[in-house]
Amino acid sequence: MTKTSNQMWGGRFAAGPDAIMEAINASIGFDRRLAAQDIAGSRAHAAMLAAQGIITDKDAEAIGKGLLTILSEIEAGKFEFSTALEDIHMNVEARLKEVIGEPAGRLHTARSRNDQVAVDFRLWVRDQADAAMAGLRALMAALLAQAEAGADWVMPGFTHLQTAQPVTWGHHMLAYVEMFSRDLGRFGDARARMNFSPLGAAALAGTSFPIDRHATARALGFDGPMANSLDAVSDRDFALEFLAAASICAMHLSRFAEELVIWSSAQFRFVRMSDKWSTGSSIMPQKRNPDAAELIRAKIGRIFGANVALMMVMKGLPLTYSKDMQEDKEQVFDAADNLMLALAAMTGMVGDMTANRDALRAAAASGFSTATDLADWLVRELGLPFREAHHVTGALVARAEAKGCDLPELSLDEMRAVHQAIRQDVFEVLGVENSVASRMSYGGTAPARVREQIARWREVLA
Ligand code: ARG
Repeated sequence: MTKTSNQMWGGRFAAGPDAIMEAINASIGFDRRLAAQDIAGSRAHAAMLAAQGIITDKDAEAIGKGLLTILSEIEAGKFEFSTALEDIHMNVEARLKEVIGEPAGRLHTARSRNDQVAVDFRLWVRDQADAAMAGLRALMAALLAQAEAGADWVMPGFTHLQTAQPVTWGHHMLAYVEMFSRDLGRFGDARARMNFSPLGAAALAGTSFPIDRHATARALGFDGPMANSLDAVSDRDFALEFLAAASICAMHLSRFAEELVIWSSAQFRFVRMSDKWSTGSSIMPQKRNPDAAELIRAKIGRIFGANVALMMVMKGLPLTYSKDMQEDKEQVFDAADNLMLALAAMTGMVGDMTANRDALRAAAASGFSTATDLADWLVRELGLPFREAHHVTGALVARAEAKGCDLPELSLDEMRAVHQAIRQDVFEVLGVENSVASRMSYGGTAPARVREQIARWREVLA
């Protein structure tokens, strides 16, 4: 190729770009990741051009074969990417010219890099949505296995990170299954909305060639062509939706990661991470650090950062394509890579961790966690108004606190000193097992309810 001007569009340029211009303009350093999608899009386009009689079958065949040769060169790491050729689209096309000669020049008929990059990127993001959904399913299965193992293990439920009421381990695991299932739904929704093809919008206005956009859409697995050519080359909300879904998912991951960090501490000992998912300290031999959980907790930073960054890039851009939009890819690449890594690490950690049933039980029984059960008993058995029951219970908690014991350790006489109608059977609701077993309302923490939900999720994930 000529070094003075770009062979793709250099017809009216006498000189090549300044080196800094080339550096700021080129995207090949990152958009080479779109190679497979670029080649798939070009193959569909070439086949359609031939079917429509716009190019000959012979040329289309040469183009299709040449593109496959290039794909294998890229996969084998034998392709020489050139910054002077700016991006993946021109790198592939220039190489096609070297491989098959003259017919290569016909590939770009009725097409522009604007619809080309839009279709490539959509295909790439669509794959990532699929990968995220697969990752989420694996994570949900790992959580479900934990839930099944400890459906009736009692642990403290928290509000304000203060012991609130006893709940079950299975219930806590299933809370995350619910969250991740909504993430799954968000990726699925985004995928369904993005699954329309921009190919054939050409530069922005469509084309005068008799192309068949339905055919290329079908060939690339889209549900149909996008209906407005201006929108087709301008839209990046498919990428933003992916990033938004990724951000919310990363937020959920960060919450669970934070709980794992707390739970694996020496103060809590609720879970033990396997050796595979712990790291030691170079100076403190006793340490087992939950580094993976901490890193997952942190990933939200760059993922949500990508969402904000791309939103800012797109904000205020006039229709249609502007080069600003080349800044979309690195954000999405980085967010997708890190989301997949976080999902895989969380799945591995959850699958390998061991819950400490005794520590969970002991913590559940401390901190007056059955005070609400006591108040409910006073309402149900003695007919007290809930407000009064709350007050009586508060007085009993104060007594236990002063004595340095938990509610079940108060004697009946001590209880009667606060309210004389309290009977011996109050102790039946004070145990944590009784407490959780009584939470039979739909969505409640009773082991029987939890098992119902486990069965439902087993079916959903099967
Ligand atoms: N590398 C460009 C991008 O990623 C491809 C589209 C360029 N189109 C153009 N008219 N300069 O956005």
